[in-house]
Amino acid sequence: MEKKIMLTGIRSTGSPHLGNILGVIIPSVSIANKNTKHSSCIFIADLHSMIQIESMTTIKNNTYQIAAAWLAFGLNIDNCLFYRQSDVSFVTELAWYFNCFYPYQRLVLAHAFKKEIKNSKKISVGLFTYPILMAADILLYNAKLIPVGKDQLQHIEITRCIANYFNKRIGKKLFVLPNAFLQKNMFVIGTDGKKMSKSKKNCINIFSSDEILKKQIMSIRTDSKSVKEKKNPETDYIMSLYSLIAPVDKIEIMKKKYLKGGYGYYEAKIALYEYIIHKFSSEREKFFSFIKNKSLLDHILASGAKKANRIAYERLNFIRKHLKFNPII
Ligand code: TRP
Repeated sequence: MEKKIMLTGIRSTGSPHLGNILGVIIPSVSIANKNTKHSSCIFIADLHSMIQIESMTTIKNNTYQIAAAWLAFGLNIDNCLFYRQSDVSFVTELAWYFNCFYPYQRLVLAHAFKKEIKNSKKISVGLFTYPILMAADILLYNAKLIPVGKDQLQHIEITRCIANYFNKRIGKKLFVLPNAFLQKNMFVIGTDGKKMSKSKKNCINIFSSDEILKKQIMSIRTDSKSVKEKKNPETDYIMSLYSLIAPVDKIEIMKKKYLKGGYGYYEAKIALYEYIIHKFSSEREKFFSFIKNKSLLDHILASGAKKANRIAYERLNFIRKHLKFNPII
């Protein structure tokens, strides 16, 4: 039976917050660890990050943070190819071929591009061709299942279109058409009650120090009810976050305290803080130890890249052959 490759890329935008962890990391690690050997690829999209982040030092540091987080949550790297996008540079060659085959007129219709060009005067060519590199990420490995958020669906459509174009042009089914595997985006609210997101500065970052984590939790917005007053557990943000991570019995106890009164938001915040520290204690410990050991992270990512490069090399040579280019020496 043909192996169904699952592949996903993570932009290196810094250490993942609670929303990323609950919504993406935990479910993806679970799928990747269950999949058969080498049928999942998870990579850190540092080349894509170049269109967003100017400082290469920041990109490098963010890459470590992401790698440490995924490993801390138990990603099994014997099973899954875990690598930096920039370490498998064959992908940029494939992106060039796609650039030459895909109509410009179609790419200008991409939502992300249209939005950016409206908002800012200066955008890079890289931002424009972002979907092409993403298509190369996917098609280089003939990946079939692509777990992504809603915002990436159009990119997967473009990838399918590119695969079709190429197959037709070459007259052979070189590429399989990938399917987006829409991740039910778990709605995790941030400290201000809106969706948790780095750009909104409302994050809870479990991989920050105890003090910062506590500060973030203390900044969760509440109404101004006094300790004595009864509170509504259905509308409160502390309660909502607590409900995402605590077991049912603990949630019930907290709910009762809210309804009864005599329980302040400060106490609820402390309970949330303590539960986060308790629940993620082993992941936090692992994260901090990985971050202290960058050479281990480099080694893990390099060995992932080594395996990925081997597959990518074979595939690219096969594609080159159909383009009447010589094999890579
Ligand atoms: N564009 C994706 C994002 O912003 C990241 C990404 C890059 C990706 N290449 C990919 C996702 C290939 C899936 C497959 O989230």
